Amino acid sequence: MNKILVTGASGNLGKSVIKHLLTKMDAENIAVLVRNTDKIEDLKNEGIDVRIGDYTKYESLVAAFNCIDKLFFISGSDFEGRSMQHKNVVNAAKETRVKHVIYTSFQRKNEEKTSPISFVVEDHIDTETWLKESGMEHTILKHNLYMDMLPLFVGKEVLETGLIYLPAGEGKAAFTLREDMAEVAAHILTTEGHENKEYDITADKAYSYYDIATIISNISGKTIRYTSPSVEEFNKTLTEAGVPAEYIGLFAGFSLAMIEGELDNTNSIIEKLIGRKATSVEEYLKEVYS
Ligand SMILES: NC(=O)c1ccc[n+]([C@@H]2O[C@H](COP(=O)([O-])OP(=O)(O)OC[C@H]3O[C@@H](n4cnc5c(N)ncnc54)[C@H](OP(=O)(O)O)[C@@H]3O)[C@@H](O)[C@H]2O)c1
Repeated sequence: MNKILVTGASGNLGKSVIKHLLTKMDAENIAVLVRNTDKIEDLKNEGIDVRIGDYTKYESLVAAFNCIDKLFFISGSDFEGRSMQHKNVVNAAKETRVKHVIYTSFQRKNEEKTSPISFVVEDHIDTETWLKESGMEHTILKHNLYMDMLPLFVGKEVLETGLIYLPAGEGKAAFTLREDMAEVAAHILTTEGHENKEYDITADKAYSYYDIATIISNISGKTIRYTSPSVEEFNKTLTEAGVPAEYIGLFAGFSLAMIEGELDNTNSIIEKLIGRKATSVEEYLKEVYS
């Protein structure tokens, strides 16, 4: 049996992937990479092989990847310096003769600096290139935007304010539930035929914030409006409200990406791979707002 190591195992996606892997294989064939064990007490009790490592510390990765056949490489969460961290992971995997790397990348159409989300996709493009050049088997999972980000994007107090305020115009995204992505990942990790393939991991329907406002209104019984200001007005309003610049940049970048159609990409890959439909935005928002 192949030994699989899941990085980012203390995070949301990593934890879900491990939960699904445990339904498919013995714990002794699962290893995890964590920076420290504080957030994974539950995993230690499962009998999983816990290895300590940090994407910024090359030697720690070489030690942690020893005797690993498949690496589920979850992209790092820092925008600063992420590219070099990923280079360390790819090089360490190659040095330790990992056979197959499955990498969580991100969707895009525009790969140039002109993309409003180049601050996210640049590192992914670099990492994909290094994986392809490494000679290792690789599978690239191009994730669409997490559906789980919607409450952050529409605002925690949307039911009180009755307003979704984002410069996304009529743009759409095929928001995809992180839990669905985790189940897909566990399937790919435990089945054959995914070597040197790229998959757009995305839902089968795309939604605008007009659609989201209507759905939340129907669920909550409250009237929720959507207003799309210009980016300049959006930046000014949020800055005056004391929102940190990094959040404003994130909200504006993903909104513009929706206008430019970067995330309006649907398919039925989830159903094809795990035999059930992707969770819909309606189902998810019902859980959150009813
Ligand atoms: N598609 C989308 O919409 C979307 C949205 C958000 C994020 N993402 C990407 O998807 C990844 C997984 O999402 P998530 O929700 O699971 O994120 P998360 O909960 O923030 O988990 C990130 C994981 O990466 C680990 N990590 C970060 N820097 C590391 C380093 N230098 N060395 C080793 N491990 C490191 C974290 O470890 P610690 O617990 O030690 O911090 C954590 O386990 C994110 O890291 C990000 O790249 C995608």
